[in-house]
Amino acid sequence: MPRLAKKDVLRADQFSKDEIALIMELATTYETALSEGRVLDVMKGLVLSTLFYEPSTRTRLSFETAMLRLGGKVISVAEAKSSSASKGESLHDTIKTVEGYADVIVLRHPQIGSAEEAAKATDKPVLNAGDGAGQHPTQSLLDFYTITKEKGTVDGQTVVLAGDLKNGRTVHSLALLLADYDVRFVFVAPDGLRMPREIVDRLKANGTDVKETEDLTDGLAEGDVLYMTRIQRERFADPAEYDRLKDSYVLTLALLEKAKPGISVMHPLPRVNEISEDMDDYSGAAYFRQAANGVPIRMALLALVCGRA
Ligand code: NCD
Repeated sequence: MPRLAKKDVLRADQFSKDEIALIMELATTYETALSEGRVLDVMKGLVLSTLFYEPSTRTRLSFETAMLRLGGKVISVAEAKSSSASKGESLHDTIKTVEGYADVIVLRHPQIGSAEEAAKATDKPVLNAGDGAGQHPTQSLLDFYTITKEKGTVDGQTVVLAGDLKNGRTVHSLALLLADYDVRFVFVAPDGLRMPREIVDRLKANGTDVKETEDLTDGLAEGDVLYMTRIQRERFADPAEYDRLKDSYVLTLALLEKAKPGISVMHPLPRVNEISEDMDDYSGAAYFRQAANGVPIRMALLALVCGRA
């Protein structure tokens, strides 16, 4: 019995190192198969439902591509407005309904803990594609895969997480996913947007070296990987506070001169202004390669949780 069959994917810290290795290995196999133009039918006869109650481009489309590339089928709610949630239906009732249609469910929802709530409502596997300012575990797995491809390994790397570390779910999940590896962290954030204390405390309790600073040049000088994030406008109660913080960090080619040579620059995307377009020609700018890595990682996750790999 494969170790991940019938499991939900709710948090980055749910995975053992063996499970992470299994996901990476299978993603590599699928990436090779895709590059060779092989047609796969691993998910033949199965239906994926994507339920997105918050905007998305990469996450939804890469999940749907992943299912189609494996020979499965997809049904999708891409806009909450078009679903019965807009009539007041509870998440529980929506999930109870969708489990009658689909074999596996991918959910993005604005509320922290929504994926856990959905998973309790059904025996079908639920994959968390972002629960508000909580977690985004499938993104962190593709981020792990990207670091491995760009750098050879995550071990020994100094990983700089910069931007809105308070509200950014991708950085919460990535920090927790890397916690058991030989990774050093530099967290770069303005005072009001620092990494939640409980995540910093968990890393430190684990013996992980964590430095916190407001200065992006500190991170640039030390980082092997710089992971930029946007200031999460939709999580601000006060628009004036967003305006005050929105231009906190802007990475330009000129600023890159202060960086450690060979630094890899990642970003979960979408970017707003935190990475200037002149950065796109830099060979270490990995963010579009990172987005493409979402397909093989999500193929691996779907096949594993559905017991087809
Ligand atoms: C991120 C998200 O939705 O959390 N995007 C993504 O999934 N690639 C990042 C963001 O919105 O800033």
